[in-house]
Amino acid sequence: MKHFTPPYPKRHTEKQSAIQSILQARSDLLSIWSEDSFKFEFMSQKILKQHVFIANDPRIVKEVFVTKHKIYERKSPQMEQALEPLLGDGLFISHGETWASHRQLQMPLFHTKFVQNYSKIMVSTIMETVEEWKKQGDKSTINVLPEMGQLTAEIISRTLFGETLGREKSGEVVTAFAEYQASIKQTPLSSFTNIPSWLDKFSIKSFKALRAAKRIHAVVDEIIDLTAKKENQETLIAHLLSANTQLEENALTREQIRNEVIVLFMAGHETTANSLAWAWYLISQSPEVEQKLHAELDEVLGDRTPEFSDVAKLPYTRAIFDEAVRLYPPVPIISRQASEDDTIRKKHIPKGSLMLVVPWLLHRHKNHWDDPDSFIPERFLAGAERKPNKFAYIPFSAGPRVCPGKNFGLVESVLSIAILAQHFRLTLPEGTLVKHECRLTLRPKGNLPMTLEIR
Ligand code: HEM
Repeated sequence: MKHFTPPYPKRHTEKQSAIQSILQARSDLLSIWSEDSFKFEFMSQKILKQHVFIANDPRIVKEVFVTKHKIYERKSPQMEQALEPLLGDGLFISHGETWASHRQLQMPLFHTKFVQNYSKIMVSTIMETVEEWKKQGDKSTINVLPEMGQLTAEIISRTLFGETLGREKSGEVVTAFAEYQASIKQTPLSSFTNIPSWLDKFSIKSFKALRAAKRIHAVVDEIIDLTAKKENQETLIAHLLSANTQLEENALTREQIRNEVIVLFMAGHETTANSLAWAWYLISQSPEVEQKLHAELDEVLGDRTPEFSDVAKLPYTRAIFDEAVRLYPPVPIISRQASEDDTIRKKHIPKGSLMLVVPWLLHRHKNHWDDPDSFIPERFLAGAERKPNKFAYIPFSAGPRVCPGKNFGLVESVLSIAILAQHFRLTLPEGTLVKHECRLTLRPKGNLPMTLEIR
């Protein structure tokens, strides 16, 4: 079988200075890596005043995320500063007691029985996309990235806010989010250069970010108020409010609930949308993979629309997703700051150092994968010769801070690929070169226009 190898940024062979890397990182974070980056295990560099370490070996990744979780629990100052106006002390950027109690409150909401319930919303929303695409007609062009963005935003809105409110409010929240993201395009200068952060806060960009954050707060507050008035709701917010009222101490304030809702909305759709867009691109370039996908869907489902219980019966569809997020991890760099002095592999790690774990490197590491740059879903099937190393494959991170929405995202993705592929093929116009764009998340650059074929 001939495997497809999607193009990737050129890997330089000469050593670069820290300044060269910073300049290059401003235009493309994925182009700074050398050929050797996909072979080394642990690296340190001093960038201006900041000590930066890169954990690039599964044993060290485990040490950072699991064994020494307490030391490396805290997100990087860049991440905290960029998201604080929007998320306050929300789960994504909090640490210590606050993080632990907010996390404990939310974990039950992602239990399989809830995800099974949410899957009904997933299926009906995906079916609406099927109807819309059918209306657009055979051979029409669709912009796959925004289409997947709209689908996953609708799914998380309806799950969080309920069918009716979700439909009404999703557009409003998405627009305000886009505004916020645009305003924090550059991470604050202060975190790398140690200029006082208050100087950064008064820049025009931050002013725009604050204005966009206020808009999101107002919309979400209104939704929470409306939810609180209704009874017997199966929405994520209703479950969160009800779990909170059962707490004897440490109950979240209304503002903290709002922060958590915003975290779930933010973390719960763009990553999935990017993964799905990459999956469609990869499938379109691999006729044999596409054939196997169709064969599995025909055999397991026939003309029937899949539901939650079918997800486990579609291992090849799942393997396509697993392989898409290996090649294109939606969160390509995970950063933490050391909260105390530490030593790893005899290297001293001063308190305040940045510890980077880079799925982009680990997922293509020469020691852990055969033919690492090629698209080979079979490596994730049960009978594969070489089992992926658990800590060399971390699209959802690992340890106590692992993505709580992992199952939600997996079920949503497998159902989306299965249902859409039952009805359509997506092909890439001849000669199209698909590039990537890497900011907080990794996605195809541009809209990824593809041709829709009705099956
Ligand atoms: C393909 C889909 C997804 C991927 C690849 C993904 C990946 C990740 C990663 C890598 C992190 C850790 C980030 C870090 O440590 O800096 C994370 C955190 C998180 N994700 Fe996901 N995610 C996905 C879907 C979802 C969904 C659907 C939800 C919610 C419905 C969600 C909610 C969260 C939350 C709340 C956190 C913060 C957890 C904490 O800090 O304790 N994610 N995700």
